[in-house]
Amino acid sequence: MLESRASIKVRNGKPGDAKAIADVFKESWQHAYRGIIPHSHLEHMIRRRGADWWRSTVRAGETVLIVECSGEVVGYTTLGTSRTKGPYQGEIYEIYMLPSHQGLGLGEHLFEAARARLDSRGLNGLLIWALSENFTAADFYWRRGGRPVAKTIEKIGGARLEKVAFGWQ
Ligand SMILES: CC(C)(COP(=O)(O)OP(=O)(O)OC[C@H]1O[C@@H](n2cnc3c(N)ncnc32)[C@H](O)[C@@H]1OP(=O)(O)O)[C@@H](O)C(=O)NCCC(=O)NCCS
Repeated sequence: MLESRASIKVRNGKPGDAKAIADVFKESWQHAYRGIIPHSHLEHMIRRRGADWWRSTVRAGETVLIVECSGEVVGYTTLGTSRTKGPYQGEIYEIYMLPSHQGLGLGEHLFEAARARLDSRGLNGLLIWALSENFTAADFYWRRGGRPVAKTIEKIGGARLEKVAFGWQ
């Protein structure tokens, strides 16, 4: 449980947050995908998306929101125009919390902030892709009203993994 004194803040990621976001990325992806994405591929992705990658992503104007808990970056989300043709114009590309900070209500803050950001850009409808084996994510989206609207198989590091898209009208 979070201490009631902990201060929670969602804000735009800045170049100076790059190292902290890379650390969240590393820990949350290892935790979420170990045993699902082949090890060497997962480690390759983590090496590729270090602080430099995040710094240039933020500088390029990509939207990265972070959630801070008492000044520490504990989660991030990236969002923008949907990459899938169809009625869902907005997409949350990624949403990840540090394992130590999951299940405390912080992902909810980040999710709502992401939705508000997409709304403010006039993007109607929301899509989020998740690996079908990622039951935590599927439950989280389902309880927030998302419903499976598409499926695909993606080859990731030699493994054929099923992905499901959750949609909100
Ligand atoms: C999916 C994920 C982003 C959700 O974030 P989270 O912070 O764990 O989720 P929350 O804590 O906000 O919500 C989870 C539940 O805990 C509840 N909860 C537990 N303690 C709480 C508290 N102190 N205050 C508020 N809610 C609390 C929430 O109400 C929510 O319940 P509900 O879904 O039935 O409404 C996060 O678990 C995560 O990073 N998972 C691993 C990575 C991943 O799978 N990312 C998505 C890839 S597609």
